[in-house]
Amino acid sequence: MRYIKVDSYEIMSRKAAAIIAAEIVRKPNCVIGLATGSTPLGTYAQLIEWNKKGDLDFSEVTSVNLDEYYGLDASNDQSYRYFMNTNLFDHINIDKANTYVPNGIADDIDAECAAYDKRIEDFGGIDIQLLGIGPDGHIGFNEPDTCFVKPTHKVTLDASTIEANSRFFNDISEVPTSAVTMGMGAIMGAKKVILIANGLNKKEIMEKAFFGPIDPQVPASILQLHPDVTVIYTEKNPVK
Ligand code: PGA
Repeated sequence: MRYIKVDSYEIMSRKAAAIIAAEIVRKPNCVIGLATGSTPLGTYAQLIEWNKKGDLDFSEVTSVNLDEYYGLDASNDQSYRYFMNTNLFDHINIDKANTYVPNGIADDIDAECAAYDKRIEDFGGIDIQLLGIGPDGHIGFNEPDTCFVKPTHKVTLDASTIEANSRFFNDISEVPTSAVTMGMGAIMGAKKVILIANGLNKKEIMEKAFFGPIDPQVPASILQLHPDVTVIYTEKNPVK
């Protein structure tokens, strides 16, 4: 594991974007795993800038996202499909047909989850996976549990996750209470992993996740077992 502590959100974002860009240059048809949340916004802004300048080509890239709220469709501005379109896909030359986000409104969620894993397997796995970390140590929406759950699955969100994500909603009662998340199988199967985190509020969980015991109660701690993980952390928040 490479654990890199940096002095600003902007440096964290640039480093993460550079690692992703290097992968795309090395393998133009790579499969990138993407994340939502506030943390990756700077990374996405940097990737957009390089794409607009003509230095980075997404035309052959495939993306798979980590998770989606259960019950929200793509047109809902709180859905993660909507987030990805507006914060990245609409601004780069990726073929939207090659971008995948779990379908949170599938009639048969179990079949959707199985198909999501099968698709990733058919791609030959994920080349590079970008992750954030939740205040409870979740990656994707893999919440603290008694074991690490391997397949893509439906999950009930922890109270702390609902609380943390309520900042994006008008009222906490509007936050979905469940979600579909990629499991630890696809995440740990990714050839490379980058985890980014910022803010003093993440300091304690970062220490637990990367310097404490490997424990399903701290889901990100499983990454200590991954052969190629880069963690980039800054105590600072974005300069407004
Ligand atoms: P954040 O979310 O980037 O908005 O802090 C991270 C997460 O919950 O995984």
